[in-house]
Amino acid sequence: MSAEPVPAESASAERKDDHVRLAAAQYERSPADEPFADVSFVHHALAGIDEDLVDLSVQVLGARWSSPLYINAMTGGTAETGRINRALAIAARETSVALASGSVSIALDDPSVAGTFRVLREENPDGFVLANVGIERSADDARRAVDLLGADALQVHVNAVQETVMPEGRRAFSSWQRSLAAIVASAEVPVVVKEVGFGLSPETLTLIADLGVTGADVAGRGGTDFVRVENARRAAHDYDYLIGWGQSAVACLLEAPERSPQLLASGGVRTPLDVARALALGARAVGVSGTFLRVVLDGGPDALVTRIRQWQEHLRALCALLGAPEPAALARADVIVRGATAEYCRARGVNLAPLAHRSAAVPTDHGGAHGQIHAERSRHDR
Ligand SMILES: Cc1cc2nc3c(=O)[nH]c(=O)nc-3n(C[C@H](O)[C@H](O)[C@H](O)COP(=O)(O)O)c2cc1C
Repeated sequence: MSAEPVPAESASAERKDDHVRLAAAQYERSPADEPFADVSFVHHALAGIDEDLVDLSVQVLGARWSSPLYINAMTGGTAETGRINRALAIAARETSVALASGSVSIALDDPSVAGTFRVLREENPDGFVLANVGIERSADDARRAVDLLGADALQVHVNAVQETVMPEGRRAFSSWQRSLAAIVASAEVPVVVKEVGFGLSPETLTLIADLGVTGADVAGRGGTDFVRVENARRAAHDYDYLIGWGQSAVACLLEAPERSPQLLASGGVRTPLDVARALALGARAVGVSGTFLRVVLDGGPDALVTRIRQWQEHLRALCALLGAPEPAALARADVIVRGATAEYCRARGVNLAPLAHRSAAVPTDHGGAHGQIHAERSRHDR
């Protein structure tokens, strides 16, 4: 990886390097809980289809992605994070997956570090790129972030929990809905609202749908935990009791209202099976940060290319095994939800029983109750 011009170190730049170091160290440890493990597919031994029949492409944010996978928002703003961005961009280009930038705010405030973000587009000129800004930024800033990257879409992150624990956090949340409305009103690309690892509730999903937001990345609990990361940056480490705050991506998908923006899922995705699980619960595409960050730090862009290609191959194999000719068809697979997620759903009044019998409701090509499953068109074609 070639070196970026070294930007001036500032408190914000130091924070960016801290985030990478702490998030990567955290991901090495086994997780406190793995919400995706609460979801299992019912095995139907004669339900499979030929792997050749599987088309992994999906319609997302007005574009066709060749697979339902993306590298989610992480970093930029320092020499080291610029190198990471270059590696992520090369991996995205070589595997044709979509790629989200880390928050561009630091470059809006200090143009001398813009190159550490622009590299995402320079190395990946034809890929689908999402720019990322915090919800408190102005509509003008959001447009500048999109322009900087020639981005195809804009992620607006909501991170109230992180700001609460971050030593230098801004706990001024009252204006956030107004700010989002202004960003959406003037954006020239589709807007995605995303959490940073604490989940989007149905109440939030409805609210942002009403504001005209195109996509929602539920970015749930169970992977990178920014309470843990920011608490490690506090001298007194005094917010440790908040570790584990929020809803998992699985819980968010299970209780997402019909009137949601296009659903994207992330947070704690560790395997291709997790991707299939999220797709089965209604996500159009699935984002990965912590797992891919570890791969890039350990092995550079080549290791990430290998890992993403492996995931794409495995995902195709899992779709064939489950009888799904396309990712959206997984939303007709029979799934069982157990454990803490089932308990959460009971408390929130979400009926899980129909999920376990979805394939039987669909007529099949070969007459059986559990043949090839068909796409649930209603949600995915909106
Ligand atoms: C080092 C690091 C930096 C991150 N920075 C951002 C950011 O700038 N903007 C954002 O929206 N999310 C950011 N995230 C959050 C991720 O996009 C994602 O929502 C979260 O990490 C959960 O996914 P994971 O469990 O796959 O890591 C960051 C994550 C990591 C690991």
